[in-house]
Amino acid sequence: MDNKFSNNRALLNIKVEGFSFREALPGDCKQISVVEKNAQPAPWSEEVFRNEFNVKVSNIWVALEADRILGFLVFWIVVDELHVLNVAVHDLARRRGLASSMIQALKDEARRTQKTLISLEVRESNIGAQKLYAGLGFQTLARRKAYYADTKEDAIVLACIIEESS
Ligand SMILES: CC(C)(COP(=O)(O)OP(=O)(O)OC[C@H]1O[C@@H](n2cnc3c(N)ncnc32)[C@H](O)[C@@H]1OP(=O)(O)O)[C@@H](O)C(=O)NCCC(=O)NCCS
Repeated sequence: MDNKFSNNRALLNIKVEGFSFREALPGDCKQISVVEKNAQPAPWSEEVFRNEFNVKVSNIWVALEADRILGFLVFWIVVDELHVLNVAVHDLARRRGLASSMIQALKDEARRTQKTLISLEVRESNIGAQKLYAGLGFQTLARRKAYYADTKEDAIVLACIIEESS
């Protein structure tokens, strides 16, 4: 992840048959936005993704089948923590391990760079995502009341403590 601001984005060491993974380029925003619109009830605009490239602490990983982006992960590096802001997989590619493989790789990255935890928010109605995170060792840390503007539902704050051997 040393070449964030170059055009030579690193391939990521994530293994899912038929897919490759790499750091995103600004030119990926249109395709990322297609996945976002397919997956999220209140999707970020393409402009929001574009702006992430101006945020020094922000990182975006993409999952591709051939040249088509079908999943992505956005996270920020905040001091000793990795905070996941967004993760989505197009419904054409779900339940094939894309999200879990990216989060597992994020845990590896956290360990490699000596971070202490990974945190994120999930809608209380999003049982599928909660199952995904529970399976990856995330635990409930807190609840944020009426966090989501569209439905006013609560966010559940989840965290995964990074231990050297986890
Ligand atoms: C949640 C999401 C990212 C999961 O992506 P994915 O690539 O399909 O997830 P994986 O294939 O890695 O799933 C791994 C495991 O998580 C659990 N899981 C994932 N999606 C699930 C669902 N819809 N229902 C129940 N369990 C689910 C299962 O245990 C699954 O293992 P299995 O397929 O062997 O049963 C995807 O459904 C999505 O984009 N949803 C809309 C956006 C969203 O909710 N983002 C997360 C916001 S915090």
